[in-house]
Amino acid sequence: MKKIFSGIQPSGTLTLGNYLGAMRQFVELQNNNDCYFCIVDQHAITVPQEPKELKDNIRSLAALYLASGIDASKSTLFIQSEVPAHTELSWMLQSMTYMGELERMTQFKDKSDGRDAVSSALFTYPSLMAADILLYDTEVVPVGDDQTQHLELTRNLAERFNNRFGNTFVVPEIQIPKVGARIMSLQEPTKKMSKSDENLRGFISMLDTPKQIEKKIKSATTDSEGIVKFDQENKPGISNLLTILSSCTGKNISELETEYENSGYGDFKGDVAIAVQNLLEPIQIRYKELIESDELDLILDAGAKKASKQANVTLNRSKEKMGLKR
Ligand code: TYM
Repeated sequence: MKKIFSGIQPSGTLTLGNYLGAMRQFVELQNNNDCYFCIVDQHAITVPQEPKELKDNIRSLAALYLASGIDASKSTLFIQSEVPAHTELSWMLQSMTYMGELERMTQFKDKSDGRDAVSSALFTYPSLMAADILLYDTEVVPVGDDQTQHLELTRNLAERFNNRFGNTFVVPEIQIPKVGARIMSLQEPTKKMSKSDENLRGFISMLDTPKQIEKKIKSATTDSEGIVKFDQENKPGISNLLTILSSCTGKNISELETEYENSGYGDFKGDVAIAVQNLLEPIQIRYKELIESDELDLILDAGAKKASKQANVTLNRSKEKMGLKR
């Protein structure tokens, strides 16, 4: 039984990438581990958000966690801003994070590129993420591979704190799925699939209708070779669709290459669309039941209470070590 923590930003409807790279792992892990799953709303406000939209997105994400199979009797599901220990520890860790480390973060570079009003919180985002993880004595952090750099910094901060003030934090391990760790954009398959993509055909939302899913997959960028084969470098579009199909069906890539040896891209794409529709349909049905329910609020209340209790133990221990106590 291990301590697990992960978080997702409520910054728009989740994509198929979020589900295959992260959420699905969470559901498997909760059966024999002590899991904390967080709606990281304070991370979301590091870029501008419309208040009404943010509020809806927080609720929607909570419902999606549950609809995807997070079971509140096994896992603790909560909203970051309802557990103040996160920002408190984040400040303490910021005081130990170097500017140079933050400047090297590719997520900061990507998100700040070309913008003139970049918040300081976007820059210090990784220290808050480290606090999220370290507060729960987390041993394993299941994420997609775009979070690797943030996890490395979290480990460095834990070690730095432990070396300076004595053993305080557990140094966490990252866990990335074997298939689906980086689902790519359907339109530009050399770029990560992202919910903030301006090209709406680039990503599949977890709440897309079967028709939308079919349309997006049918119009996915491929190549002119006409052979269904995995080759990340030369055939990024087909490789991405193979990854999606493999993740959805559980069949491995080489098995799929053989299965589609004599098929054209049209038939192949049709089957990818069906696999994605089948994967998302039951989640969407459950989502509709949950989104308006009181059950959702009760789960989040209980989650915040349980998370606070655990987080405050670690926060107090780290404050004591740092000398922030009378
Ligand atoms: P976020 O909200 O961008 O994404 C949530 C999770 O989805 C994964 N993911 C993907 N996986 C595969 N293919 C993709 N195209 C794809 N896009 C996203 C992400 O890797 C992530 O696991 N910084 C985090 C949120 C966070 C967090 C934490 C995560 C805050 N505190 C503590 C873990 C632990 C983020 O922006 O994820």
